[in-house]
Amino acid sequence: METWTYAQARAVKDTRPGRAVLTFRSAGPAGRGKLPLAGIGRFRYGVPLSKYLPRMASNMRLVLLGAPGSGKGTQAQRLRDQKGIPQVSSGDLLRDAVARGTDLGKRAKAAMDAGELVTDDIVLGLIRERLGRPDAAAGFILDGYPRNVAQAGALDALLSELGQPIDTVVLMNVDEKALVMRLTGRRTCPACGKVFNVYSSPSQKGDKCDNPEHGAEAPVLKQRDDDKEDVIANRLKVYNDQTAPLIEHYTARGVLKVVNADQPVDRVYADFVKVAV
Ligand code: AP5
Repeated sequence: METWTYAQARAVKDTRPGRAVLTFRSAGPAGRGKLPLAGIGRFRYGVPLSKYLPRMASNMRLVLLGAPGSGKGTQAQRLRDQKGIPQVSSGDLLRDAVARGTDLGKRAKAAMDAGELVTDDIVLGLIRERLGRPDAAAGFILDGYPRNVAQAGALDALLSELGQPIDTVVLMNVDEKALVMRLTGRRTCPACGKVFNVYSSPSQKGDKCDNPEHGAEAPVLKQRDDDKEDVIANRLKVYNDQTAPLIEHYTARGVLKVVNADQPVDRVYADFVKVAV
């Protein structure tokens, strides 16, 4: 977690509970920007800002939009690790259901193997259950949901029920030519979910996960079944046909921010934090 000191806080505007806005400058990937200090009570001068970070993350409700391989999962995991906001990935929820052999997983598998979208009702059920868990009450990063205009409508209805409207939708924008190499090179840890790339960000331990939490028993990295070239081609087509229209949808709502995701991961993250936080 990035730690900020009081000296790096340039101004706290209006210190009343629930109103405070911190203007910060940080040497780390967060860069500079503004953070709402909602939910922390009165801001106390002289207290290290790192003490407030988990609560500062509150009320951040983000949607990540972007083509397969654009880096949604990579950036969501980083923001989760740095700010303590849960990542809610519809793809991960579906893969977990498939791996556990649940009824829902069995119904979803064929569509996933073909690179098609799983039916809206199945995915909405998973998202509803996940957003209902206590850790999501203070904010979340939705990664991979919604995926079409009907899902965007269902999400609005669900979030209005929960009293948690979307703050920002971030589009990870990448030239399609870069995506096939990213996807064929992706490897994922089956235990902790860490994402690698054999070309751009390989594991320090070769074909095993280098997350220190595994100790000597590091799991062997896996390639996703749908990261094969013929399935990738269909996933990109499905994105262009069904998901890309959401760009216009959220632009019209005035909540869309675009990040150039065709840069090294650290630079994408710095730009992402600037628009999302
Ligand atoms: P899902 O798991 O959501 O897949 P996706 O949207 O196709 O996105 P990916 O996970 O492939 O890519 P990503 O953008 O997260 O990229 P990542 O960070 O991993 O969905 C899978 C399937 O589930 C769907 O096809 C569908 O069947 C079903 N599904 C899911 N949600 C659904 C929904 N809402 N409705 C219906 N069906 C649904 O990065 C990729 C690789 O690139 C990695 O190796 C990474 O290390 C590398 N990389 C990342 N950033 C960079 C960078 N800046 N430079 C170089 N390499 C990079």
